Amino acid sequence: MPARRVLVLDDEKLVRWSLSERLKADGFEPVEAASVAEAMSAAARANIDAAILDYHLPDGDGIAVLKRLRQDDPDLPVIMLTAHTDVDIVVEAVKAGASDYVAKPFDVHDVSLRLTRALDGTGDHRELRRLKEDLARPFGFDSIVGDSEPTRQVKALARKVAQSPASTVLLTGESGTGKDLLAKVIHYASSRSRRPFLNITCSALPETLLESELFGHERGAFTDARQMKRGLFEQADQGTVFLDEIGETVPTLQAKLLRFLEEKAFRRVGGGGDISVDVRVIAATNRDLEQNVRDGKFREDLYFRLNVFRITMPALRERPDDIGPLIRHFLAGFSKEFRRPGTKISPAAEKMLRAYSWPGNVRELRNVVERAVLLAESDTLEPSDFESLHTLPNLRAPAAPVAGATGGIQLPEGGLDLDDVEKRFIELALERTNGNQTRAAALLGLHRDQIRYRMEKYGLLKSDVR
Ligand SMILES: Nc1ncnc2c1ncn2[C@@H]1O[C@H](COP(=O)(O)OP(=O)(O)OP(=O)(O)O)[C@@H](O)[C@H]1O
Ligand SMILES: [Mg+2]
Repeated sequence: MPARRVLVLDDEKLVRWSLSERLKADGFEPVEAASVAEAMSAAARANIDAAILDYHLPDGDGIAVLKRLRQDDPDLPVIMLTAHTDVDIVVEAVKAGASDYVAKPFDVHDVSLRLTRALDGTGDHRELRRLKEDLARPFGFDSIVGDSEPTRQVKALARKVAQSPASTVLLTGESGTGKDLLAKVIHYASSRSRRPFLNITCSALPETLLESELFGHERGAFTDARQMKRGLFEQADQGTVFLDEIGETVPTLQAKLLRFLEEKAFRRVGGGGDISVDVRVIAATNRDLEQNVRDGKFREDLYFRLNVFRITMPALRERPDDIGPLIRHFLAGFSKEFRRPGTKISPAAEKMLRAYSWPGNVRELRNVVERAVLLAESDTLEPSDFESLHTLPNLRAPAAPVAGATGGIQLPEGGLDLDDVEKRFIELALERTNGNQTRAAALLGLHRDQIRYRMEKYGLLKSDVR
């Protein structure tokens, strides 16, 4: 077996030297770099098997390098070197996917040993494991607020599926009921929690792009495919892939998904061999999948395959007992965020919120509480602080003019850039729909492709995958 190549990035010559000497003695082939730029070009030239990265560098930081390396190879073992006091950096590094970290000053033997462990996958030492568990904790079952009977049933089912080896889960329910949240909770409660949770919104990408995001592609598979790329299923091996808005996929892709679910194997786009992975797929939709099947828009066989383990999130109006606890949960969060500690809600206001029908479910409740905390005059929220409830635009209603019928819109003296206005409204629509492009498009009277096109134009697409 050829010696494994290890990128050693540190701006201190002595550190590089001592690490390299140790690594050579242990049978590795070190490749040295003293800056971010050098590291990137070294990584591009040499096929590296692992990396040891310092954090403070003359032209940037090691985490940026970590992220770039991870893009090309999500499984690359990376050890971060940090100063003793850099707790935040350690957290950031682990979040960005570092396999391990070592505090400076370090013992070169220790680094080499950890590298060996990271390379054969026996990595995580205890501290690191605890840190990863801490990072996972925000998505424990406690993060699903509510103790109503329907919510309890959902949690019980979710617990069961999290622990079972059953790989596929279907989450259905209206928009804003907490499907995203539940998917994360299931992942972090499962034995897969230390592997990636990757999600993708199926409606956000055109079909061919979605296929290559999911399955990856070989070099040369299409004009832009200059390099081989691993898809989400490969990156999330032993972890979870969350396919949001599965109801929006086209039949050809549905057929490929079905094959993947049945055989746990797939081919990269333009690729020859089958690749086998072990991922749990959690699919979600706020559509009526049965109706889509009857309409011929959704393959029946895929529907049956997904429907084996299904959890339906009840609408908020079907579990009014959750409303009180949810209000208090969001109140606590927002009063802290907006520095209005001790904000409470009056019984009359709570009663009013309990009686409302919540077409936008928990998301709507969250937004309403946020707005009330932000705008309230006193520290007890009264019914008048929730007046917006009755004036919230109905998503299905024809678009209302921006600023009232009297033509409240004014053209500034110096004129304006219409593109800026368009961009701002797209941002607002995306904010209101929590980034859901389909609904944001609907708010603006656009089709999905039209909003996609504009988002691309205005550089708003950065974070749509994952
Ligand atoms: N039971 C809950 N406890 C606390 N927060 C919740 C709960 N349910 C939902 N939320 C919050 O409400 C918001 C909407 O939830 P989420 O995004 O999971 O909905 P969804 O069902 O995926 O909606 P969509 O179908 O539109 O994608 C999120 O901010 C989520 O954290
Ligand atoms: Mg969602």
